[in-house]
Amino acid sequence: MITKPTIDRIMEATDIVEVIGEFVQLKKRGANYVGLSPFVNERTPSFTVSPAKGIFKDFSSGKGGSAVTFLMELEKFTYPEALKWLAKKYSIEVEETVDTSENREADNHRESLMIVTGYAAKFFHESLLDTDEGKNIGLSYFKERGFNKDTITKFELGYSPDQWEAFTSQALKEGYQQEFLEESGLSVKRDNGSLYDRYRGRVMFPIHSFTGRVIAFGGRTLKNDKNVPKYVNSPESEIYHKSSVLYGLFFAKKSIRDEDNCYLVEGYADVISVHQAGIENVVASSGTSLTVEQIRLIGRLTKNITILYDGDAAGIKASLRGLDMILEEGLNVKVVLFPDGHDPDSYVRSVGTSAFKKYIEDTKKDFILYKTDLLLKDAGNDPIKKAEVIREIVESVAKIPDSIKASVFIKECSDLLKIDERALLSELNKMRMAKAKKDSQQPNSNSRQFVPVDETLLYEPVEPEVKDDTNQEKEIIRLLLLYGNRMIDWDGIANTYIGPFMIAELSDVEFDHLVSKQFVELYRKEVENGVLPDEQFFIHYPDKGIVDLSVTLIATKYTLSENWYEMHHILVNDEQKNMKGTILGAIFHLKKQKVGKILDGLRTELQKTPDAADQDILLSQYIQMKKVEKSISDYLGSVIIK
Ligand code: UTP
Ligand code: MN
Repeated sequence: MITKPTIDRIMEATDIVEVIGEFVQLKKRGANYVGLSPFVNERTPSFTVSPAKGIFKDFSSGKGGSAVTFLMELEKFTYPEALKWLAKKYSIEVEETVDTSENREADNHRESLMIVTGYAAKFFHESLLDTDEGKNIGLSYFKERGFNKDTITKFELGYSPDQWEAFTSQALKEGYQQEFLEESGLSVKRDNGSLYDRYRGRVMFPIHSFTGRVIAFGGRTLKNDKNVPKYVNSPESEIYHKSSVLYGLFFAKKSIRDEDNCYLVEGYADVISVHQAGIENVVASSGTSLTVEQIRLIGRLTKNITILYDGDAAGIKASLRGLDMILEEGLNVKVVLFPDGHDPDSYVRSVGTSAFKKYIEDTKKDFILYKTDLLLKDAGNDPIKKAEVIREIVESVAKIPDSIKASVFIKECSDLLKIDERALLSELNKMRMAKAKKDSQQPNSNSRQFVPVDETLLYEPVEPEVKDDTNQEKEIIRLLLLYGNRMIDWDGIANTYIGPFMIAELSDVEFDHLVSKQFVELYRKEVENGVLPDEQFFIHYPDKGIVDLSVTLIATKYTLSENWYEMHHILVNDEQKNMKGTILGAIFHLKKQKVGKILDGLRTELQKTPDAADQDILLSQYIQMKKVEKSISDYLGSVIIK
């Protein structure tokens, strides 16, 4: 048991913003801090920390409490574990009431495993620094690779002696249990039940958890034998889930937040060399391909990833598709390629820190543009290959959840591909629709959210205005009924029907008017089944609501949005002459109304909320929505008024 005075001292020292700041990127808003919830995957910050009250509140998951609660929730720590973590952070000596049997046999399984891996790290580190074999073989190897003393200490590098049982027998002698030695993968069981060391004659790279505890190892051989695996890594265990660990993250997280960027490299050696060179925001996926969990870990700290590749082109092409996943998570991806034969480790050592940084700045390229370039070079003049390239690129762009950002990429790619922007957009819409279909089949999908752009706009109250999006929704239905099965003949877009185009564009809009909503769903389903429904389909549909709506709309042509059409100089009678303006105008006018409604709601809530922390959250949501509204207005302006 941790003593009461110790607990008091820990509580006194704890700065909740500092503690939570290690896990969540926090921004100051008034007296409080806000950030993205670490408990749910969200894109609008709803997580708030009040330093004055010493509490956090997560409006998405409903969780809230002190720094200790936070650590228990996020890291799944027990109460004493959380206290010890804080004690370590603030260099407070922990006094425990002695109860050896309890202390030795730690409170749970995971803790026992971590005690064993922690012990092993210490054993390997000491054997590197304090034994002749370690010094002669391990330490001289690290020195030769340019790792200095501080680096070796910081990363707790080690050496495992070239004997069958050096580690295992020592661990058993000190009372560590066979069960945990085996489960952590440090020891391997023979047929006769005895244990031997997994890593023999290898230099050891401990892998740390997000909070800095050793949970696994990578051991590198020093032999040049092709039959010996270069690295032996810990197996999966209760404390080591490979797919959700990034090597170096514990040492990098502060810098990742400060720099608002994360460098991603391939190997242990790359992380260590680059870190030693003073570029600390670097992590590695350690040989395996990147997983969604790993991306989300980074995403909690920054939205920018820069991938540092070694110069071997074959490897890069293989990993291109995997990178789409990062786009899907809403992160920005840049790519840097090192000159032939160099990896980040060798390059930073050969040119030094400032030239290394300059090289990155000079050559980094946005992933999609990089991919476009690379594939185009491959395709040469082959038109079939080129068509395939276009499809692949648009597929990547379609993964970007922020549609405004996506359209910027479309613009840039259209230059590179020498293809009309609108043709690419039409392709993009098709893919978005396919994706929306896929997402709608998956529960918990959050792909229909508006994606906020994190910028600071000033809060400007807007005078309330009567909004009736029911009419605007009906206008969409009317256009679908009348023109849905016509081909788009706007310059540049070919092979696209108006109906599917509209449905795809509206995939992020929730209809309020019940029958209109049913209508759109019905339309979407038909399109997905390869049918393009026409007026007759709806007039004869076996549902009275749908039939009534359809008939009414077909009968009362263009009476619904005259005001708006007039405002934009589109003559009602001319709607067919300016099809592009009619269709896009209706779509984006509706979107604008939806955003306006969200803004209204936020404004009302803001006025009702007395709590400053809640106000901050609402305000930041408001600001982001405002930005979305502005981009829609800009788009409307650019597309319609022509
Ligand atoms: P590399 O072969 O590039 O290793 O593999 P490295 O880290 O650059 O090592 P040095 O520079 O040759 O000493 C990249 C990463 O792939 C994983 C390791 O995580 C390694 O750091 N890997 C590689 C394995 O897990 N097993 C292997 O056999 C090889
Ligand atoms: Mn290397």
